[in-house]
Amino acid sequence: MKISESFCTFYVVLCLLNIGLQLAGVFGHSDGPAPGGGVDASGGVKLTCDPKHVTIDNGIIQLTLASPIGRIVGLKYHGADNLLDSHEPKLWGAYFDVSYNVIPPRSGAGGLHRVEATKYTVITEKPDIVEVSFSAEWNPSLTDSVVPLNFDIRYIVRKGDSGFYTYVAVERLKDWPDMDMSLHVFVFRPNKQLFNYMAVSDEIQLVMPTEADRANGVTLAPREAVLMTNPVDPAFKGQVDDKYEYIQEQKDSKLKGWISDTSKIGFWLIQPSTEYMNGGPLKYDLSCHNGPTCVMVFTGEHVYGDDVDMVFKKGEGWNKVFGPFFTYVNSEQDRAGLWKDAKSQLEKETQLWPYCFIQHKDYTPAAQRGSVVGQLLVDDKYLSPTPKEACKAMVGLAAPGTTNEAWQSEAKGYNFWTEADEKGNFCIKNVRPGDYNLYGFVPGIVGSLRHPQLITVKPGNEINLGQVMFKPPRNGPTVWELGIPNRSAKEFFIPDPDPKALNKFWLDKPDQKFRQWGLWDRYPVYWPKEDVVFEVGRSNYSKDWCFAHFYRSDGKVWNPTTWQIIFDLPEVCTTGSYTIHIALAAAELTNTLVYVNNVNARREHYDTGTWGDDNAIARHGDHGFYRFFSGSLPSNLFVKGKNTIYLKQARSQTYMFAGVMYDYIRLEAPPPSSTAQPKEL
Ligand SMILES: *[C@@H]1O[C@H](CO)[C@@H](O)[C@H](O)[C@H]1NC(C)=O
Ligand SMILES: *[C@@H]1O[C@H](CO)[C@@H](O)[C@H](O)[C@H]1NC(C)=O
Repeated sequence: MKISESFCTFYVVLCLLNIGLQLAGVFGHSDGPAPGGGVDASGGVKLTCDPKHVTIDNGIIQLTLASPIGRIVGLKYHGADNLLDSHEPKLWGAYFDVSYNVIPPRSGAGGLHRVEATKYTVITEKPDIVEVSFSAEWNPSLTDSVVPLNFDIRYIVRKGDSGFYTYVAVERLKDWPDMDMSLHVFVFRPNKQLFNYMAVSDEIQLVMPTEADRANGVTLAPREAVLMTNPVDPAFKGQVDDKYEYIQEQKDSKLKGWISDTSKIGFWLIQPSTEYMNGGPLKYDLSCHNGPTCVMVFTGEHVYGDDVDMVFKKGEGWNKVFGPFFTYVNSEQDRAGLWKDAKSQLEKETQLWPYCFIQHKDYTPAAQRGSVVGQLLVDDKYLSPTPKEACKAMVGLAAPGTTNEAWQSEAKGYNFWTEADEKGNFCIKNVRPGDYNLYGFVPGIVGSLRHPQLITVKPGNEINLGQVMFKPPRNGPTVWELGIPNRSAKEFFIPDPDPKALNKFWLDKPDQKFRQWGLWDRYPVYWPKEDVVFEVGRSNYSKDWCFAHFYRSDGKVWNPTTWQIIFDLPEVCTTGSYTIHIALAAAELTNTLVYVNNVNARREHYDTGTWGDDNAIARHGDHGFYRFFSGSLPSNLFVKGKNTIYLKQARSQTYMFAGVMYDYIRLEAPPPSSTAQPKEL
């Protein structure tokens, strides 16, 4: 813990040092002159305007903004032609979209709305830095098709930077109409004549199909997926392209972009913090995809569904700053060099966070932030007699909630996550002042933690929570368990895709197999008549347990399916009830019914309820929104010898993407009587 504390302190000093250097005028973080051009060392940043455009030029990049709407229409780099697309009137450049609904719904109101500002303001104009603002204010006389929010889109260009910063401050006043919002996204359209190679992680880097490759193909379901039957590049023939194959978990999506093989230029979105994003560190959302497109999804529900939307009622005011993030351009010898340099730029931006040069009143600078440190321990007597260190736990602060998973559906506030070290020590730094709960989950341990104490972070504070105990769900000794409790269904059997409709890119990446299109249609290939039957001690979950519990089509309807887990009990323990823990990695339109030994019982023995709006199946995730259930099963349901637990997805569907992904299932025997010590496993 000492180490993390001193690390926190060191970090604040670093940022103060940055401010100092900046004031002294020697601050900059360019990589030095890039090939093919020279940094204008003397001139600084220049701001020019004409009636329709604002242009900011620092000698490295030149950013052109449509005025007063605030859309990015041009990005030049060392004089290279526009790096952003300028061919399609609706989709050119870069722009900010919001998806919303008014409550109650009215026809013509809501939907996907492209935000256009009405007012242009210069915030800062100095040789070192220019910041401009494009804003719009809502008022009740505006039509239904304008989202009821005030917006302020800001752009910052600094001397010496090979890129620019963007952020959006939004605000809603108290007496504005009821509404919900599902999406806030900044969309970039890199120039399709330049950019051909996409890179969103160390592993996921590839030459992407173009619009021409997708044209004349067969549109599949979901409709974003296309089977390329007549591509320009014959290598894509017979392959499927779908933007959702490239979704990323937010914790892994801090750098993404495109490379131009012809110009040896890279275009990158770099995000040092995800504090303003919804859904937590594992939330999947879009990254980059065909187009070329690169998106900064501030809040989104593409994979997690409407559980992560924001809902506002009259009387509720709100404001939030999305960003800032950095758009970086570079130029190197080859793809590997471009990616490596972009990664080192992410490191630099992370060092600079929280940025010291942001002017908006709702943005909190470093000196006004606090930190929270502690050590997380797992207290499960059946795993270890004394509490054990929560190795590599994810620990986060989010708005106070009433459930352990409240942070997952939190979208209005800010949240701050970190990964603990091997010993469970965590240091959550750069926290905005406010009230929080501490939440956490540990790889390999089912369930999650919500620390009961309300945590109030004040400017400059370091709060030391000391040892924090996480008591995971546990009622008695394990009879059997299935899977790895880590919020993913990846360890289970994943069907091979249809050889006539796959994406070859994933074929040599077994860890990413779940990203293939159409796996919902592959279940009956492996389980043609009977559904999954798993025999404890004999079956292997990597081969015999499908990663998603699908329904089964009869050509018209998708019918319920029932899976079985068969196990032996040498004795039935009658001192209490057995417990079944079911952790779901995802759920879409489902209702899981549990039966013990009699699937035709008049009533199910446990019912999880009816829920789920995830798109993890349709959008190729190995998980969506996490849910946890514990059911009590009376011991008289069990018999000595062979027992069967049935898991039934009980609702008929007209929808092929329905189903659940199990993360982990555990059956526990009744707890030993209070005098007995728990038996160690
Ligand atoms: C969960 O386990 C799988 C399989 O071992 C692994 O690939 C995945 O990264 C893990 N996920 C998390 C969130 O720990
Ligand atoms: C289960 O199957 C996987 C995949 O074939 C294999 O790697 C693993 O060793 C098997 N586990 C056991 C316990 O047999």
